[in-house]
Amino acid sequence: MKVKKVQFNNTVLRDGHQSMAATRMTTPQMLPAAPLLDELAFAGLETWGGATIDSCLRYLNENPFERLRTLKRAAPHTPQLMLLRGQNIVQYASFPDDVVETFVKCTCENGMDILRIFDALNDVRNLQTAIKATKKYGKHARGELCYTISPVHTVENFVKLGVELEKMGCDSIGIKDMSGIIQPQIAYRLVKELKSQIKIPITLHTHDTAGLGAASYLAAIEAGVDCVEVSIVPFANGTSQPDTQRMLALLEGHPRCPSFDSAKLARLREHFEAVYQQLEKFTSPANERVDSDILIYQVPGGMLSNFRTQLNEQGMAGKFDEVVKEIPVVREALGWVPLVTPTSQIVGTQAMMNVKFGRWKMICQPAQDIALGKYGRTPGPINPQVLAQVEKQTGKKSVTERPADLLAPGMEGYRKQCADKGLPTDDETVVLFAMFPQQVEALHQGARPSPPASAAPPAAAAAKPVVAPAGSPTGSGQRMFVTINGKRHEVSVETLEG
Ligand code: CO
Repeated sequence: MKVKKVQFNNTVLRDGHQSMAATRMTTPQMLPAAPLLDELAFAGLETWGGATIDSCLRYLNENPFERLRTLKRAAPHTPQLMLLRGQNIVQYASFPDDVVETFVKCTCENGMDILRIFDALNDVRNLQTAIKATKKYGKHARGELCYTISPVHTVENFVKLGVELEKMGCDSIGIKDMSGIIQPQIAYRLVKELKSQIKIPITLHTHDTAGLGAASYLAAIEAGVDCVEVSIVPFANGTSQPDTQRMLALLEGHPRCPSFDSAKLARLREHFEAVYQQLEKFTSPANERVDSDILIYQVPGGMLSNFRTQLNEQGMAGKFDEVVKEIPVVREALGWVPLVTPTSQIVGTQAMMNVKFGRWKMICQPAQDIALGKYGRTPGPINPQVLAQVEKQTGKKSVTERPADLLAPGMEGYRKQCADKGLPTDDETVVLFAMFPQQVEALHQGARPSPPASAAPPAAAAAKPVVAPAGSPTGSGQRMFVTINGKRHEVSVETLEG
């Protein structure tokens, strides 16, 4: 029997630079590599979505849809992939269904082929609109399982989730290990079990943060995974995906080893070495290093390095261990949410607040919202005492509806706002405006995008803490503003996603 070769997707144009250089690679820096990537045997190229849209608008003065069209022209033969945060699109909170559908329509019409769709809570109801829309516009919907470790995240439960995603019409399943914590034995079991229960192809996506990436890929390949995702050095390994050459060397002689033109791979590396130099300001030795600490704490690496900086800024340098140990306490109370954008920011902030003010003395608003079900169904139950306290504090009861069912259609309202500001009112501009109003305005005025701090909402004078994500992934992490008893604190936490 002929053994099926494993496929490689390449992530250098999205996750590679999001993980290694704060998402700062520009379209001109990508373009010389695009035809080369296209000529190689990659099954897919991840080029868009995640934090790249925010970064285009906020830092690079680029129209993200223009980037998509340009890359599609430059690499027309290989399917392109993007990462979509389900109902949050590429932002941090739910959008109405019509906004999600219009975004997916624009994305598909501009040439995107495969949409990787995930939800931070793995609540499949937050994926349904994006999956349906992707199918409606004739493209490939890849439903993602956000991998995390907790008492409720068993192989059995992940398999159930995979079965559900197949039933919902997904064309393939991605196991999305954003923190790089999936261990080879688990990867093997999970792929094997999924393979026995579902017919659609399975991709494993991990990060080499803890040094497990390549070994877990090998185990998954042994178990029959269809595809794994790799990058190109120096935008590979460490907090990024394992390098293509490295995976090829690891698989040499293996019956499933794919074949790649090594001269072309060497040219790609040469190109990206130069780009890495140009982006030096946004790179960091901490991203390049393999750090198995994350396995001890079971906390994503980006969060750990960020906490160190954060706690120093807050005069809490001595509290590192205490805060890190508080993370599982917060996760458990909030139903064992996976740590991925935006829950990673919320759990991190709440852990700091628990240490600073006393456990659950202050609960930030997004944590209250998770407890109240506003982000969707949590994987495990919310701690009853914490829920009672939140209900008392807010005067609200928890909800069980799909979050977007509570939202009225939004497109026409956003379109009117665009018209009032003298902006174009086409769908592309309006969906971007819905997510990044100030940046879209700045882009159309030809102005430089505003720096992250100015995008912050005004400090609320309320006594209850308010946390607002107000920035974008940067070298030093996501900026958030917490207002407690009228005093505004700026905190920063890392954006973490597949
Ligand atoms: Co990733």
